[in-house]
Amino acid sequence: MTVICDVDPAGAETLHTALGPESVLVPTMDGLNKHLAAHPEEDVVVLGAGVDPLSAARLAETMRITRPALGVVLVRRRLDTSVLADALRSGVREVVEERDVAGVARAVARVEEVARQIREQIGGVDASHASKPEGRVVSVFSAKGGCGKTTLASNLAAVLADRGHRDVCLVDLDLAFGDVAIVLQLFPTHTIADAVLMQSSLDFPALHALLTPHSAGLTTLVAPLEPGGAESVPASLIARILRLLKAHFDFVVVDTPPAFDDHVLAALDATDIVALIATLDIPAIKNLKLTLETLELLNYPKDRLRIVINRADSKVGLSMNEVEKTLRTSISSQIPSSRDVPASINRGVPIVLDDPKHPVSQAIRTFADRSIVGTVAGETGPVGEHAAERRSVLRRRSRAR
Ligand SMILES: Nc1ncnc2c1ncn2[C@@H]1O[C@H](COP(=O)(O)OP(=O)(O)O)[C@@H](O)[C@H]1O
Ligand SMILES: [Mg+2]
Repeated sequence: MTVICDVDPAGAETLHTALGPESVLVPTMDGLNKHLAAHPEEDVVVLGAGVDPLSAARLAETMRITRPALGVVLVRRRLDTSVLADALRSGVREVVEERDVAGVARAVARVEEVARQIREQIGGVDASHASKPEGRVVSVFSAKGGCGKTTLASNLAAVLADRGHRDVCLVDLDLAFGDVAIVLQLFPTHTIADAVLMQSSLDFPALHALLTPHSAGLTTLVAPLEPGGAESVPASLIARILRLLKAHFDFVVVDTPPAFDDHVLAALDATDIVALIATLDIPAIKNLKLTLETLELLNYPKDRLRIVINRADSKVGLSMNEVEKTLRTSISSQIPSSRDVPASINRGVPIVLDDPKHPVSQAIRTFADRSIVGTVAGETGPVGEHAAERRSVLRRRSRAR
């Protein structure tokens, strides 16, 4: 059920009409506090435009600690960044403009869904959460663009979720040019940039509200919709986000930009398995070799690395043997080339879901089974302890070039 509080009777009535007769109307914050105390099952509070910002922030702050499942939707006459920043910092889950009546109903529906999932997780704390091992973070990386990182990351996430058998979160860390939302045809209302406003107060319920669900078992944290949004995301926030996600999902799959930037380094620190992807051309293989050397310099454990050759059947005069010899590492997976891959991307459905028997889908499924799921527990685990040391090595190295 939804409780509406607005000291302005006209505003209250509009919200009541928008949210249906089952919603409860209380005219004062005092009345609201009493109602909440008497109804522990309430999960959504809508605060109308007549409620002053301080009272709204106080309520959201208290509820976040005492009733984490409950979400506050704040209605404001006008939205600007300072209103949004203050609201999100205090723990308000959604902020909607007063005239966007349909938007209020949609926000309430999203908050209800988050509440349901949080209740499930909190409910399962005793029974399953205590024994549930932490999830694994799998990052897909290549220092060169266009190799198939996003294709592999999105299909890997979809195949790991496997019709909801496991909970998977796909994170788009290509903050400037991320295209996970496009590849999966999502219409996100929030992106990773919204987490910047909450930094130190970011907890799982708040982060959960920023996720965009895709299908059973698969949800996403998408990149900022504007390229400029990347600069505002500090690397420390990436570490925090991945830690929170890892504690709640079976797998966190990270798509990355084609560069060893601070965001990627922070992600690698939290990563259990890195899939390094390249195509069969000399520049891509050279870049992969450089990446392997850099990771070695950074003391990144070799047993966490998996080499994936994409478009591996291209007849370009390079054999797998030659590539393995050059890299001095064995190749974990070979994904064939097919026109059906860009076609599936244009349709917005990962090929592993669209055509599970396709050779590309089979290659990705086998890779997921053997090299990700089948990895013996204990071999993995993040390597964050050496983060600072590794970063200074990388900096020294890039200065020397
Ligand atoms: N196995 C494949 N066969 C054919 N086309 C592919 C394959 N893998 C990726 N592509 C295409 O290559 C392009 C780049 O892939 P993408 O995953 O976006 O690369 P990245 O994320 O590394 O920049 C896309 O148009 C994609 O459809
Ligand atoms: Mg990409």
